[in-house]
Amino acid sequence: MSEDYQEVPLKMIDPESDLPADVFLHINSKYIQYLHAGDSIRIDKYDLFLNKNVKSIYVKDEDYDKVMDWCLTVRQTFRDELVEEAGEDAKELIEDSLELEEELYDVFSDQILTQERVEKIKTYADEFVEKASEQENFQRALAALLKRNETLAAHGSNVANLSVLIGMISGIGSKYALNNLFMAGLLHDYGKVKIPPHIVENPSDANYERLMTGHPEASIKIIEKSEGLPEQVFKMIMEHHEYWNGSGYPRGIREFDIYEYTPILSIANEIDNYLVKNRAQPDVKRWEKAIKMVENGKGSKWNPELFPRIPDALKQAFLPDAN
Ligand SMILES: [Fe+2]
Repeated sequence: MSEDYQEVPLKMIDPESDLPADVFLHINSKYIQYLHAGDSIRIDKYDLFLNKNVKSIYVKDEDYDKVMDWCLTVRQTFRDELVEEAGEDAKELIEDSLELEEELYDVFSDQILTQERVEKIKTYADEFVEKASEQENFQRALAALLKRNETLAAHGSNVANLSVLIGMISGIGSKYALNNLFMAGLLHDYGKVKIPPHIVENPSDANYERLMTGHPEASIKIIEKSEGLPEQVFKMIMEHHEYWNGSGYPRGIREFDIYEYTPILSIANEIDNYLVKNRAQPDVKRWEKAIKMVENGKGSKWNPELFPRIPDALKQAFLPDAN
């Protein structure tokens, strides 16, 4: 007996709420039961789905209306809570932001990133950064970094911002995942505060290599006691110098052994390093070269699937006249 199934867009579903019915995935023309009523998708799985371009789940025909009602109720409750927290004035802003989150999700499956869309993503990234910078976790970490090393604090902060933008360009619409990138961006080089400045500047120093290859782990040691940092943040910090072809450090892991969002942090990091090193050059010149450097890393440093999307969008964002 064949049963009928109906498609439910993933973006309608709140990953943290309990599902009202069994849900299925459609794989190789078959419907495979994925979760039972009462389970929730969970945020990490949800992010994984989005990243793998899974756009829908399926429910049995007879459950469809119930599931759609549930989706709308959960969504409305979520909006109401946000509005109540933020006050009536912020209502429009919140609805805009939720809409954009959905749009980012659509952008992801679209192959074409128009100038207009990139501009929109840039605005949304700025808004996200502004809000995320207010969280206590971030403020505390930034203050601690500033106290110890202003250059590292500035670099961390630039990389945090750029990681959010590149994350959005890559189609990450989940605030949770974006915030993890933001925190990892700020903290990735924290361990360098332990390396004396004369060694950081001098690759021929006998201790250079040991200290440099150890800095991702040193960063983790410093922040491991801070509360509220999810595992993904540690993972991305640990891996921010690992490369797709295995030529990175500290472990030389490769391809999909590297966490899927780590390349975003890694690209943001290398861009900022390049921009800082060439700060004497005019903006357009150094952005051109920084983006070229990203393009050259396709398949060697970074997952080729991220190309040409990321460099193309960066060109539109930072070299709009060149297009
Ligand atoms: Fe680093």
